[in-house]
Amino acid sequence: MLTGWVIYSGKVPLEWERGQQNAAAAGIELKMIDPALTEICVDDSRTSSIYYDGSKAAFPDFLYLSIMKDHHYNALALMLEMEKLNIPCVNPQNAVLAANDKFLSCQILSRAKLPFPKTILVNGEESIPAIKDTIGFPAVLKILTGAKGSGVIMVKTEEECRSILQLLHATAPGTNMIAQEFIKESSGKDLRVIVVDGKAIACMCRKAHSSDFRANFSLGGSVEDYPMTEEIKTLGIKAAEALGLRVAGVDLLFTAKGFTICEINASPGFAGIESCCPVNVSAEIFKLAVILVREKKAR
Ligand SMILES: Nc1ncnc2c1ncn2[C@@H]1O[C@H](COP(=O)(O)OP(=O)(O)O)[C@@H](O)[C@H]1O
Ligand SMILES: [Mg+2]
Repeated sequence: MLTGWVIYSGKVPLEWERGQQNAAAAGIELKMIDPALTEICVDDSRTSSIYYDGSKAAFPDFLYLSIMKDHHYNALALMLEMEKLNIPCVNPQNAVLAANDKFLSCQILSRAKLPFPKTILVNGEESIPAIKDTIGFPAVLKILTGAKGSGVIMVKTEEECRSILQLLHATAPGTNMIAQEFIKESSGKDLRVIVVDGKAIACMCRKAHSSDFRANFSLGGSVEDYPMTEEIKTLGIKAAEALGLRVAGVDLLFTAKGFTICEINASPGFAGIESCCPVNVSAEIFKLAVILVREKKAR
Protein backbone atom coordinates (compact mmCIF):
# COMPACT_ATOMS: atom_id res chain seq x y z
CA MET A 1 0.00 0.00 0.00
CA LEU A 2 1.37 3.42 -0.97
CA THR A 3 0.47 6.63 0.76
CA GLY A 4 -0.23 9.79 -1.19
CA TRP A 5 -0.87 13.34 -0.09
CA VAL A 6 -3.18 15.56 -2.07
CA ILE A 7 -2.77 19.19 -1.08
CA TYR A 8 -6.10 20.90 -0.91
CA SER A 9 -7.36 23.79 1.17
CA GLY A 10 -11.02 24.30 1.93
CA LYS A 11 -13.92 21.93 1.45
CA VAL A 12 -12.86 18.83 -0.46
CA PRO A 13 -14.75 18.86 -3.76
CA LEU A 14 -16.81 15.96 -5.11
CA GLU A 15 -14.24 15.08 -7.76
CA TRP A 16 -11.79 14.17 -5.00
CA GLU A 17 -14.37 11.94 -3.32
CA ARG A 18 -14.28 9.93 -6.54
CA GLY A 19 -10.49 10.39 -6.35
CA GLN A 20 -10.46 8.65 -2.95
CA GLN A 21 -12.17 5.59 -4.48
CA ASN A 22 -9.74 5.56 -7.40
CA ALA A 23 -6.83 5.78 -5.01
CA ALA A 24 -8.07 2.81 -2.97
CA ALA A 25 -8.50 0.82 -6.21
CA ALA A 26 -4.89 1.67 -7.14
CA GLY A 27 -3.60 0.52 -3.72
CA ILE A 28 -3.04 4.03 -2.43
CA GLU A 29 -3.99 5.39 0.94
CA LEU A 30 -4.85 9.00 0.20
CA LYS A 31 -4.79 11.90 2.62
CA MET A 32 -6.17 15.32 1.78
CA ILE A 33 -3.66 17.74 3.29
CA ASP A 34 -4.55 21.32 4.11
CA PRO A 35 -1.31 23.31 3.74
CA ALA A 36 -2.43 25.68 6.50
CA LEU A 37 -2.14 22.83 9.01
CA THR A 38 1.42 21.84 8.15
CA GLU A 39 4.57 22.84 9.99
CA ILE A 40 7.79 22.17 8.12
CA CYS A 41 10.84 21.88 10.34
CA VAL A 42 14.26 22.08 8.72
CA ASP A 43 17.78 22.13 10.07
CA ASP A 44 21.28 21.90 8.64
CA SER A 45 21.13 18.12 8.17
CA ARG A 46 19.51 16.54 5.12
CA THR A 47 16.54 15.47 7.22
CA SER A 48 13.44 17.43 8.07
CA SER A 49 10.17 16.77 9.81
CA ILE A 50 6.61 17.68 9.11
CA TYR A 51 3.86 18.23 11.64
CA TYR A 52 0.31 17.94 10.48
CA ASP A 53 -2.57 19.20 12.56
CA GLY A 54 -0.37 19.24 15.67
CA SER A 55 1.26 15.79 15.33
CA LYS A 56 4.43 14.58 13.68
CA ALA A 57 3.50 13.07 10.33
CA ALA A 58 4.99 10.11 8.47
CA PHE A 59 6.16 11.11 5.00
CA PRO A 60 4.04 9.98 2.07
CA ASP A 61 5.29 8.11 -1.01
CA PHE A 62 4.17 10.92 -3.30
CA LEU A 63 2.45 14.28 -3.29
CA TYR A 64 0.01 15.94 -5.66
CA LEU A 65 -0.88 19.61 -5.45
CA SER A 66 -4.55 19.94 -6.22
CA ILE A 67 -5.08 23.63 -5.62
CA MET A 68 -3.13 26.84 -5.35
CA LYS A 69 -5.25 29.28 -3.47
CA ASP A 70 -4.88 30.07 0.19
CA HIS A 71 -1.61 29.18 1.88
CA HIS A 72 0.13 28.58 -1.39
CA TYR A 73 3.41 29.57 0.26
CA ASN A 74 3.08 26.58 2.64
CA ALA A 75 2.15 24.30 -0.25
CA LEU A 76 5.17 25.31 -2.31
CA ALA A 77 7.47 25.02 0.70
CA LEU A 78 6.10 21.54 1.40
CA MET A 79 6.72 20.50 -2.19
CA LEU A 80 10.29 21.74 -2.09
CA GLU A 81 10.89 19.79 1.12
CA MET A 82 9.46 16.61 -0.45
CA GLU A 83 11.73 17.05 -3.45
CA LYS A 84 14.72 17.43 -1.13
CA LEU A 85 13.74 14.13 0.49
CA ASN A 86 13.40 12.52 -2.94
CA ILE A 87 9.64 12.04 -2.54
CA PRO A 88 8.02 12.47 -5.97
CA CYS A 89 5.76 15.46 -6.48
CA VAL A 90 3.52 14.57 -9.44
CA ASN A 91 4.07 18.09 -10.75
CA PRO A 92 7.52 19.45 -9.84
CA GLN A 93 7.56 22.56 -7.66
CA ASN A 94 9.35 24.73 -10.22
CA ALA A 95 6.82 23.81 -12.92
CA VAL A 96 3.96 24.75 -10.57
CA LEU A 97 5.64 28.09 -9.89
CA ALA A 98 5.97 28.78 -13.61
CA ALA A 99 2.37 27.80 -14.35
CA ASN A 100 1.11 30.07 -11.60
CA ASP A 101 2.72 33.10 -13.16
CA LYS A 102 0.95 34.06 -16.37
CA PHE A 103 3.81 36.17 -17.71
CA LEU A 104 6.53 33.64 -16.91
CA SER A 105 4.37 31.02 -18.66
CA CYS A 106 4.23 33.24 -21.77
CA GLN A 107 8.00 33.68 -21.69
CA ILE A 108 8.44 29.91 -21.55
CA LEU A 109 5.96 29.41 -24.42
CA SER A 110 7.82 32.04 -26.42
CA ARG A 111 11.16 30.24 -25.95
CA ALA A 112 9.51 26.99 -26.97
CA LYS A 113 8.16 28.73 -30.11
CA LEU A 114 4.58 27.80 -29.22
CA PRO A 115 1.67 30.04 -30.24
CA PHE A 116 0.00 32.39 -27.72
CA PRO A 117 -1.56 35.87 -27.93
CA LYS A 118 0.78 38.90 -27.91
CA THR A 119 1.38 39.75 -24.25
CA ILE A 120 2.91 42.67 -22.38
CA LEU A 121 4.06 42.88 -18.77
CA VAL A 122 2.29 46.01 -17.57
CA ASN A 123 3.54 48.45 -14.93
CA GLY A 124 0.68 50.93 -14.76
CA GLU A 125 -0.87 53.63 -16.91
CA GLU A 126 2.60 54.43 -18.22
CA SER A 127 2.33 51.12 -20.13
CA ILE A 128 -0.53 52.41 -22.28
CA PRO A 129 1.65 53.51 -25.23
CA ALA A 130 3.18 50.01 -25.41
CA ILE A 131 -0.30 48.44 -25.20
CA LYS A 132 -1.58 50.75 -27.94
CA ASP A 133 1.37 50.07 -30.23
CA THR A 134 1.59 46.31 -29.89
CA ILE A 135 -1.91 45.08 -29.02
CA GLY A 136 -4.42 47.85 -29.48
CA PHE A 137 -7.96 47.76 -28.07
CA PRO A 138 -9.92 45.85 -27.00
CA ALA A 139 -7.27 44.20 -24.84
CA VAL A 140 -7.44 41.65 -22.05
CA LEU A 141 -5.90 42.56 -18.68
CA LYS A 142 -4.97 39.76 -16.29
CA ILE A 143 -3.39 39.62 -12.88
CA LEU A 144 -0.41 37.28 -12.94
CA THR A 145 -1.67 34.73 -10.44
CA GLY A 146 -5.43 34.75 -11.05
CA ALA A 147 -7.51 31.61 -11.57
CA LYS A 148 -11.10 30.64 -12.40
CA GLY A 149 -11.59 33.77 -14.48
CA SER A 150 -11.37 36.22 -11.60
CA GLY A 151 -8.64 38.73 -12.31
CA VAL A 152 -9.27 38.68 -16.08
CA ILE A 153 -11.06 41.63 -17.64
CA MET A 154 -11.51 43.13 -21.06
CA VAL A 155 -10.83 46.81 -21.68
CA LYS A 156 -12.50 48.09 -24.83
CA THR A 157 -10.80 51.48 -25.10
CA GLU A 158 -7.68 53.33 -24.03
CA GLU A 159 -9.79 55.33 -21.53
CA GLU A 160 -11.19 52.18 -19.94
CA CYS A 161 -7.70 50.72 -19.73
CA ARG A 162 -6.36 53.88 -18.08
CA SER A 163 -9.18 53.88 -15.49
CA ILE A 164 -8.56 50.26 -14.56
CA LEU A 165 -4.80 50.72 -14.28
CA GLN A 166 -5.33 53.86 -12.16
CA LEU A 167 -7.76 52.01 -9.91
CA LEU A 168 -5.26 49.20 -9.54
CA HIS A 169 -2.49 51.63 -8.69
CA ALA A 170 -4.68 53.29 -6.05
CA THR A 171 -5.87 50.06 -4.44
CA ALA A 172 -2.99 47.65 -4.94
CA PRO A 173 0.13 49.57 -5.94
CA GLY A 174 2.91 47.43 -7.38
CA THR A 175 0.57 44.67 -8.61
CA ASN A 176 1.94 43.24 -11.83
CA MET A 177 -0.48 42.58 -14.65
CA ILE A 178 -0.33 41.48 -18.22
CA ALA A 179 -2.15 42.98 -21.17
CA GLN A 180 -2.98 40.52 -23.90
CA GLU A 181 -4.27 40.70 -27.43
CA PHE A 182 -7.99 39.91 -27.41
CA ILE A 183 -8.66 36.87 -29.63
CA LYS A 184 -12.12 37.76 -30.88
CA GLU A 185 -12.85 34.41 -32.56
CA SER A 186 -12.72 32.86 -29.10
CA SER A 187 -15.00 35.33 -27.35
CA GLY A 188 -17.19 33.38 -24.92
CA LYS A 189 -15.69 29.98 -25.75
CA ASP A 190 -12.44 28.07 -25.42
CA LEU A 191 -11.06 24.55 -25.10
CA ARG A 192 -9.65 22.85 -22.03
CA VAL A 193 -7.29 19.96 -22.70
CA ILE A 194 -6.15 17.68 -19.91
CA VAL A 195 -2.63 16.31 -20.28
CA VAL A 196 -1.30 13.56 -18.03
CA ASP A 197 2.15 12.04 -18.44
CA GLY A 198 2.67 13.43 -21.94
CA LYS A 199 -0.72 12.32 -23.25
CA ALA A 200 -3.74 14.50 -24.02
CA ILE A 201 -6.48 12.44 -22.37
CA ALA A 202 -9.57 14.66 -22.81
CA CYS A 203 -10.74 17.85 -24.45
CA MET A 204 -13.86 19.88 -23.76
CA CYS A 205 -15.28 23.05 -25.20
CA ARG A 206 -16.39 25.60 -22.62
CA LYS A 207 -18.97 28.24 -23.40
CA ALA A 208 -19.69 31.30 -21.27
CA HIS A 209 -23.16 31.34 -19.76
CA SER A 210 -23.89 34.94 -20.71
CA SER A 211 -22.27 37.55 -22.92
CA ASP A 212 -19.06 37.24 -20.88
CA PHE A 213 -15.95 36.69 -23.01
CA ARG A 214 -14.53 34.38 -20.31
CA ALA A 215 -15.54 30.76 -20.74
CA ASN A 216 -14.46 29.38 -17.33
CA PHE A 217 -16.56 26.48 -16.01
CA SER A 218 -16.28 27.98 -12.50
CA LEU A 219 -18.02 31.12 -13.79
CA GLY A 220 -21.04 29.04 -14.78
CA GLY A 221 -19.97 28.20 -18.33
CA SER A 222 -21.35 25.08 -20.02
CA VAL A 223 -19.10 22.24 -21.13
CA GLU A 224 -19.20 19.64 -23.87
CA ASP A 225 -16.90 16.93 -25.16
CA TYR A 226 -14.84 18.24 -28.09
CA PRO A 227 -13.19 16.03 -30.71
CA MET A 228 -9.45 15.79 -30.15
CA THR A 229 -7.48 16.73 -33.26
CA GLU A 230 -3.76 16.41 -33.93
CA GLU A 231 -3.38 20.19 -33.51
CA ILE A 232 -5.14 20.20 -30.12
CA LYS A 233 -3.18 17.17 -28.95
CA THR A 234 0.16 18.65 -30.03
CA LEU A 235 -0.48 22.07 -28.52
CA GLY A 236 -1.65 20.56 -25.21
CA ILE A 237 1.25 18.15 -24.93
CA LYS A 238 3.92 20.67 -25.99
CA ALA A 239 2.60 23.38 -23.67
CA ALA A 240 2.64 21.01 -20.67
CA GLU A 241 6.10 19.79 -21.63
CA ALA A 242 7.48 23.32 -22.02
CA LEU A 243 6.34 24.20 -18.50
CA GLY A 244 7.61 20.88 -17.12
CA LEU A 245 4.17 19.75 -15.94
CA ARG A 246 3.24 16.06 -15.82
CA VAL A 247 -0.41 16.96 -15.16
CA ALA A 248 -1.82 20.06 -16.83
CA GLY A 249 -5.02 21.73 -17.89
CA VAL A 250 -4.18 23.62 -21.06
CA ASP A 251 -6.61 26.33 -22.19
CA LEU A 252 -6.74 26.91 -25.94
CA LEU A 253 -8.37 29.84 -27.71
CA PHE A 254 -10.08 29.56 -31.09
CA THR A 255 -8.39 31.64 -33.80
CA ALA A 256 -9.18 32.24 -37.46
CA LYS A 257 -6.60 29.57 -38.39
CA GLY A 258 -6.89 27.04 -35.57
CA PHE A 259 -5.91 27.41 -31.91
CA THR A 260 -3.55 29.36 -29.73
CA ILE A 261 -2.54 28.75 -26.11
CA CYS A 262 -4.36 30.83 -23.49
CA GLU A 263 -2.81 29.50 -20.30
CA ILE A 264 -1.58 26.36 -18.59
CA ASN A 265 -2.96 25.25 -15.23
CA ALA A 266 -0.88 23.09 -12.90
CA SER A 267 -3.82 22.06 -10.70
CA PRO A 268 -6.78 21.77 -13.06
CA GLY A 269 -10.18 21.02 -11.58
CA PHE A 270 -11.76 18.01 -13.26
CA ALA A 271 -15.45 18.08 -12.29
CA GLY A 272 -16.29 19.85 -15.56
CA ILE A 273 -14.34 17.59 -17.88
CA GLU A 274 -15.47 14.39 -16.13
CA SER A 275 -19.08 15.52 -16.52
CA CYS A 276 -18.85 15.61 -20.32
CA CYS A 277 -15.92 13.40 -21.40
CA PRO A 278 -15.35 9.68 -20.82
CA VAL A 279 -12.30 10.26 -18.62
CA ASN A 280 -11.30 9.55 -15.04
CA VAL A 281 -8.63 12.14 -14.34
CA SER A 282 -7.67 11.18 -10.79
CA ALA A 283 -7.26 7.52 -11.85
CA GLU A 284 -4.78 8.69 -14.52
CA ILE A 285 -2.97 10.86 -11.97
CA PHE A 286 -2.61 7.90 -9.61
CA LYS A 287 -1.32 5.65 -12.42
CA LEU A 288 1.38 8.24 -13.03
CA ALA A 289 2.12 8.63 -9.31
CA VAL A 290 2.67 4.86 -8.98
CA ILE A 291 5.10 4.96 -11.93
CA LEU A 292 7.02 7.86 -10.32
CA VAL A 293 7.29 6.02 -7.00
CA ARG A 294 8.47 2.84 -8.78
CA GLU A 295 11.05 4.79 -10.80
CA LYS A 296 12.35 6.38 -7.63
CA LYS A 297 12.69 2.98 -5.91
CA ALA A 298 14.52 1.58 -8.94
CA ARG A 299 17.16 4.32 -8.80
N1 LIG B 1 -6.49 36.83 -24.93
C1 LIG B 1 -7.73 36.38 -24.82
N2 LIG B 1 -8.63 36.51 -25.83
C2 LIG B 1 -9.90 36.04 -25.70
N3 LIG B 1 -10.36 35.43 -24.59
C3 LIG B 1 -9.51 35.25 -23.56
C4 LIG B 1 -8.16 35.71 -23.61
N4 LIG B 1 -7.55 35.41 -22.45
C5 LIG B 1 -8.48 34.80 -21.69
N5 LIG B 1 -9.66 34.68 -22.34
C6 LIG B 1 -10.90 34.08 -21.79
O1 LIG B 1 -10.90 34.31 -20.39
C7 LIG B 1 -10.84 33.07 -19.68
C8 LIG B 1 -9.97 33.21 -18.43
O2 LIG B 1 -8.64 33.54 -18.80
P1 LIG B 1 -7.38 32.73 -18.26
O3 LIG B 1 -6.15 33.37 -18.78
O4 LIG B 1 -7.55 31.28 -18.58
O5 LIG B 1 -7.44 32.99 -16.69
P2 LIG B 1 -7.86 32.07 -15.44
O6 LIG B 1 -6.55 31.59 -14.89
O7 LIG B 1 -8.55 32.97 -14.51
O8 LIG B 1 -8.70 30.93 -15.97
C9 LIG B 1 -10.32 32.05 -20.69
O9 LIG B 1 -10.75 30.75 -20.36
C10 LIG B 1 -10.91 32.57 -21.99
O10 LIG B 1 -12.27 32.16 -22.13
MG1 LIG C 1 -8.01 29.51 -17.42
